[in-house]
Amino acid sequence: MARSSAHLKIKAPAKVNLFLNVLRRRPDGYHDLHSLLQMVGLYDELIFEDAPRGITLVSSSGDLPVDDRNLVVRATRALVRAAGIKSGVRVGLKKNIPMGAGLGGGSSDAAATLVALNRLWKLGFSRDDLAKIGQDLGSDVPFFLYGPTAFVSGRGEKVVPCVLNSDRWLVIVNPGFEVSTRWVYEQLSSVGAGAATSQNSWLTNIQENIRIQDSGKFKLHYSDIVLHNDLESVMESKYPVVRAMKECLLSEGAEGILMSGSGPTVFGVFKEKIDAFPAARKLKPQHPNWKIWAVKSLRRSPI
Ligand code: C5P
Repeated sequence: MARSSAHLKIKAPAKVNLFLNVLRRRPDGYHDLHSLLQMVGLYDELIFEDAPRGITLVSSSGDLPVDDRNLVVRATRALVRAAGIKSGVRVGLKKNIPMGAGLGGGSSDAAATLVALNRLWKLGFSRDDLAKIGQDLGSDVPFFLYGPTAFVSGRGEKVVPCVLNSDRWLVIVNPGFEVSTRWVYEQLSSVGAGAATSQNSWLTNIQENIRIQDSGKFKLHYSDIVLHNDLESVMESKYPVVRAMKECLLSEGAEGILMSGSGPTVFGVFKEKIDAFPAARKLKPQHPNWKIWAVKSLRRSPI
């Protein structure tokens, strides 16, 4: 985060779900889940400037609403309400993370907004305070306050930060269309796929380890992780391109492949930069409608 007297800049990273197990539908319509989330080096960029009153958002993306439907605006209002202040702000948002993609871009923008304005306005809220203020804005907001790597449960509000001991490069592939997260979860409820994998032994093991180690010190290696996403089969049956993108990544040498969150974005995991970049470079001209990035898993959160 960079600050001058007049403005403050912050980068909001994308996330991928390295593991996502949907446990059950809750009475409030959300789903309880277990997920391992990892920030990656694909960023939206935000700049905040003090203003006498009101919230003005200017976005680089014509598709993005800049009114109360936008999570940056809602995060600002939530913070103003919690602090009981009347400050105003002008926000510039450069959108690089695709929307409705399963990469958490909206939640990341909201978390970055809470952290940046807490600092700009010298409000003194702790991370725990910000997580409580932000948790109703989007299920991934708490994670983005405790990244770069964390195990989350509940609907996403219970976060155990982890340390990932090994770096990986990821080639991220988005097919160029958005999917409603709500719709994907609704499809899952109707087929009940979540229950089938809830006894995953790797998951039982990781939970046991989290219980016996101190929060924040829980260490993981990529080789320990079982890539899995309960929402993937729902998306693959409706959108064959999801499987096609994964097959392309496999044929380019990815050591693992998975859909992120509710999709439709998928990623391939590579050990070395020297393997990830050529894979991305080769796929781009073959699939001009797909958006493709080679990025690193983050060791430090920019939020
Ligand atoms: O919280 P967020 O806005 O990301 O959620 C979008 C939709 O995804 C919710 O309205 C809900 O239908 C679904 N969802 C869910 N369980 C979660 C997270 C999201 O059912 N843990």
